[in-house]
Amino acid sequence: MEIKIKKATELKELPEDDSKLGFGQIFTDHMLYMEFDRAKGGWGPAEIRPYGILGLEPASACLHYGQIVWEGLKCYRTSEGLRLFRPRENFKRLNRSARRMCMPEVDIDYLLAALKELLKLEARWVPKTLGTSLYIRPCMIASEPFLGLHKANRYILFIILSPSGPYFKEGFKPVKILVEDKYVRAAVGGTGEAKTAGNYAASLKSTDEAMEKGFSQTLWLDACERKYIEEVGAMNMAFVINGEVVTPPLHGSILSGITRKSILEICDHIGIKAVERRISIDEVIECIENGTLTEAFGLGTAAIIAPVGSIFYKEENYIINNFEVGPIATKLYEELTGIQYGSKPDIFGWIEKVEE
Ligand SMILES: Cc1ncc(COP(=O)(O)O)c(C=O)c1O
Repeated sequence: MEIKIKKATELKELPEDDSKLGFGQIFTDHMLYMEFDRAKGGWGPAEIRPYGILGLEPASACLHYGQIVWEGLKCYRTSEGLRLFRPRENFKRLNRSARRMCMPEVDIDYLLAALKELLKLEARWVPKTLGTSLYIRPCMIASEPFLGLHKANRYILFIILSPSGPYFKEGFKPVKILVEDKYVRAAVGGTGEAKTAGNYAASLKSTDEAMEKGFSQTLWLDACERKYIEEVGAMNMAFVINGEVVTPPLHGSILSGITRKSILEICDHIGIKAVERRISIDEVIECIENGTLTEAFGLGTAAIIAPVGSIFYKEENYIINNFEVGPIATKLYEELTGIQYGSKPDIFGWIEKVEE
């Protein structure tokens, strides 16, 4: 299938200093746009068009019933050109999320080829400072106008791009986390495993209250017993206990993170023992108190590795590693970003070049 290109007549100015970029504030000149219509036999061709308003009717199903799935990945500038990190994993997860939300799947090869075309056109937007990147947000929404609880027949998929710096204003420095024991993000059997808008909507109230109290994010507990660690706002969670990296298993209510998966593989490769097992908040507290828990960090595309300096639970604040970044978080950060930015060899075959 061809990829149509309609160029913007006027181009925006690039950010003046890309070392000062925040996260997700600025959008590039163009976006990718595709429509699905069941009556017309599925997806139409991808079109690269100027970034702009989507024409949606007020009755569009996504606005009422939340049929929305999305992804987040990054394009990095390296000495060998522009690179993507495991983009097929993101598109596979987009398809898994789409299946859960009764939405159509995409052809991964075609979408990746279309994304590369978009990136080639927008290459000037990929920032140069180390630690920055062009954040890529694919998103699929139900566009068919109707009221009634059933899946839609028409969808729009778009990909927008945002030159970005660190996700947390702290950068690669410890953040403060609040353990949420009142609200719940997702339960097993629900949509927690899908990257769908409703999960983020469910987490807003808690995040808002946490931020008002000076915390960066909420650490979720399981919906059933409010006992086991799930994940943080937009990251999976890991702890270092007795020198071992421990991360909660994928049992249906948390996102299957690509950073998490990559870190497990890196740990295996460099000889750090890593296990996927249930871990209760009581165990976390006990291990902080007896000194066996030496590090905690979040794992996600946006924040990469976010060291956690303190955990607030039931009116008590527990400091981890003197609120300093630990050696394992540092090592894993260096290994992962080394592969992403090209200073370390791509031994796992995770890198996809934008231009051959
Ligand atoms: C809820 C949630 N958990 C975990 C992650 C980490 O996933 P990934 O490493 O694929 O970015 C994200 C990020 O998208 C997320 O939104």
